[in-house]
Amino acid sequence: MDDTEPFEGIVGDSPPLRDLLQQVEIVAPTDATVLVLGETGTGKELIARAIHHRSRQREHRFLTMNCAAIPSGLLESELFGHERGAFTGAIGQKIGLFEIASGGTLFLDEVGEIPLELQPKLLRVLQDQEFVRIGGTRTIKVDVRLVAATNRDLAQMVEAHRFRADLYYRLNVFPIRVPSLRERPGDVEPLVRHFVQRFAARMRRHIEEVPTETLDVMRRYPWPGNVRELENLIERAVILSPGPRLMIPLEHLARRSTTLVQADSAATLELVKRTHVVRILEETNWTVGGPRGAATRLGMKRTTLQSFMKRYAIARSQSAPDSQGPG
Ligand SMILES: Nc1ncnc2c1ncn2[C@@H]1O[C@H](COP(=O)(O)OP(=O)(O)OP(=O)(O)O)[C@@H](O)[C@H]1O
Ligand SMILES: [Mg+2]
Repeated sequence: MDDTEPFEGIVGDSPPLRDLLQQVEIVAPTDATVLVLGETGTGKELIARAIHHRSRQREHRFLTMNCAAIPSGLLESELFGHERGAFTGAIGQKIGLFEIASGGTLFLDEVGEIPLELQPKLLRVLQDQEFVRIGGTRTIKVDVRLVAATNRDLAQMVEAHRFRADLYYRLNVFPIRVPSLRERPGDVEPLVRHFVQRFAARMRRHIEEVPTETLDVMRRYPWPGNVRELENLIERAVILSPGPRLMIPLEHLARRSTTLVQADSAATLELVKRTHVVRILEETNWTVGGPRGAATRLGMKRTTLQSFMKRYAIARSQSAPDSQGPG
């Protein structure tokens, strides 16, 4: 943990993020069920942990169950446990997550994937903090704080009869929406610096400079994969940067954003220009000068192309053969 971050591991200071953290502060000390909503990669799990760390459950466990990651037939047993002989293959007793998490927090990720037939049992444990293990007869009492997350539209699922309305209302007591990264471009720079620092330390690189133009392009990019996409891109960039200057493989941003950035024509133009230059460089096998080099093809002076490449942090990606470097 870094003590410049009042919320462990949550980087950013944009107004939408500050609003979100304020809501976390408010709801965490209550025992209310929290439903964390937001696109993929926005940080829903980090928010769930932050709630736990500020709750009266903080001395106890924080357990996570991703409801989409487990075959639906096994989910009930994972959550509620079973008695020996409850079904074929139940050779011993199993204690479920609700019992193990008792006193602490259970984070149910992708809660929209909970099968309909299991939903009444989840509703009961939320309402009465009690359930029966599969194949059991004894009612088990627990004290579990539930935080759930989804990137699905639960209200719509209720309308389509794929999610029970009663469970939806129970989960939706205190919904928190984690804004997408494109709604908070102000967080891009601190996130970039945070991940550069982390990956550079891990890979023993010394990166001192993130080009301003790179940051500009990143602030305008729509980030369909949100913070996770940015994190992965920075990891790749740190690997690709031999010197103190961060070399972002911006063609990643250009390739994926052609349809999405249309709303922002300035960004599109910049990306289109850059993509074109990268393509010509690839076609000329990264030969910048000479009669068959990229500069000639682009109708530019070699030095102009070189400064363009520097300005937009264009570098040959690692996958390309490295016999002829730029210049
Ligand atoms: N504000 C932030 N500061 C630092 N790291 C962040 C932030 N938000 C997200 N991350 C990082 O981004 C990655 C994705 O976050 P997380 O797993 O919480 O997203 P998610 O919303 O649960 O995604 P999914 O819906 O795909 O499960 C994680 O590595 C997380 O640490
Ligand atoms: Mg998640």
